[in-house]
Amino acid sequence: MKLQPGIAPSILAANFLKLGENIQTMKEEGVSMFHFDIMDGHFVPNLSYGANIVSQVNGAYSIFSDVHLMIANPEKYLDMFIQAGAKLITFHVEVVDVPLGNKLINYLKEKNILVGISLKPGTAVESLQPYLSLVDLVLVMSVEPGFGGQVFIPSALEKIAYFKEQRQRHQWHYLIEVDGGIDDVSGPQCLQAGADILVAGSYLFQKKDLHDRLVKLGHHSS
Ligand code: DX5
Ligand code: ZN
Repeated sequence: MKLQPGIAPSILAANFLKLGENIQTMKEEGVSMFHFDIMDGHFVPNLSYGANIVSQVNGAYSIFSDVHLMIANPEKYLDMFIQAGAKLITFHVEVVDVPLGNKLINYLKEKNILVGISLKPGTAVESLQPYLSLVDLVLVMSVEPGFGGQVFIPSALEKIAYFKEQRQRHQWHYLIEVDGGIDDVSGPQCLQAGADILVAGSYLFQKKDLHDRLVKLGHHSS
């Protein structure tokens, strides 16, 4: 499966006692990409889950696993998530200098893993400049990373527009993903601004009207 525009439900909001069912329900709606939020209690003030969950989900379902590393020292964990079946691995610009950032990108490319880079709401778009010609994905955080269920931060819209303009101007190839507080209001705004992939957790998981919610985020059950 290759990286394509669409919706990436964040399993952080799933009922982990029924994770398989939750994923199956999404798959039946035509969802194939899932977002795994990895938190280390260091880069972000929360802990989530590890590579074992990614590995178990990949073992049971054929999905595109989008792994979002909200961790310090991502270089120590890349192999763990590659082994677990990650198709795309995204790290944060705030935890690397340019040499290390380039090293991680090259390493993942050599392993045929798609690579993304992400920035927090308070981080300037210019910080990604050294990487934009190289990455497959730019992940714009529209909440302070660490927790699901937060309110969308509108300044993300300008960042999405900026990265869309930069991609057009330089003919770069990355897709733009946005993550945090995505719902039926912020989702369409992000698509309008140029987002290709919407990450949504609390808006989608454990909801009776999942189909309608997916449609409101622009999903077409293929
Ligand atoms: C926050 C995570 C987001 C979060 C999205 O640090 O990166 O992916 O799970 O959850 P909602 O959609 O509930 O804001
Ligand atoms: Zn995320």
